[in-house]
Amino acid sequence: MKHVVILISGRGSNMEAIVRAQIPGARIVAVISNRPDAGGLEFAARHSIASQVVDHRAFPSREAFDAALAELIDGFSPDLVVLAGFMRVLTDAFVSRYAGRLLNIHPSLLPSFPGLHTHRRALEAGVRVHGTTVHFVTPTLDCGPIVIQAAVPVLPGDDEASLAARVLVQEHRIYPQAVRWFVEGRLRLTEAGGVRVEGESDGPIGWTVPPVEA
Ligand code: GAR
Repeated sequence: MKHVVILISGRGSNMEAIVRAQIPGARIVAVISNRPDAGGLEFAARHSIASQVVDHRAFPSREAFDAALAELIDGFSPDLVVLAGFMRVLTDAFVSRYAGRLLNIHPSLLPSFPGLHTHRRALEAGVRVHGTTVHFVTPTLDCGPIVIQAAVPVLPGDDEASLAARVLVQEHRIYPQAVRWFVEGRLRLTEAGGVRVEGESDGPIGWTVPPVEA
């Protein structure tokens, strides 16, 4: 069994999607939040998953918070750490400690729109296609090797909320898929800085474009 620790800051719907996927060979050993009021903690408790809070406001520095967080995570002997709406910038030391076993989901088609307010910025930029990305975490924010992406159309009349909702549906598809691949041991970091999914066909691997909505 691969031990998976999931970090959240809020609603936790991606965490929920991963738990509900019941990925063979994966055991969600803990859900950890940096916010005591994160909605996702309730779901974890209801599903008898160990849940913990490390409140970043209780620490004098980013380094001190990350060190405490890492100590807690390591107590669960994780094979994989999953950032699921975890809204803290992590120190290089933290990222290096979990190199190759730290995944994040970001609500845009990276490398477009790293950082915050991605849906608003996509609308402002007038892009016709938007989406979401699961990637390995590296020290540069929202920049690591891409595992899987899903694209959605930007429709006339969209606002931030409607676009975010369309993207979220795809997040709930691709994050469990990425975790499944990791747990199956099929993700390979390539020398070129990308990710190869072993056993997938020859084409551009690890991407998916869902059907365009009417
Ligand atoms: C998701 O849309 C995720 O992509 C985003 O936060 C949301 C969390 O939703 N993450 C980031 O913006 C990370 N920079 P959830 O709590 O319902 O999973």
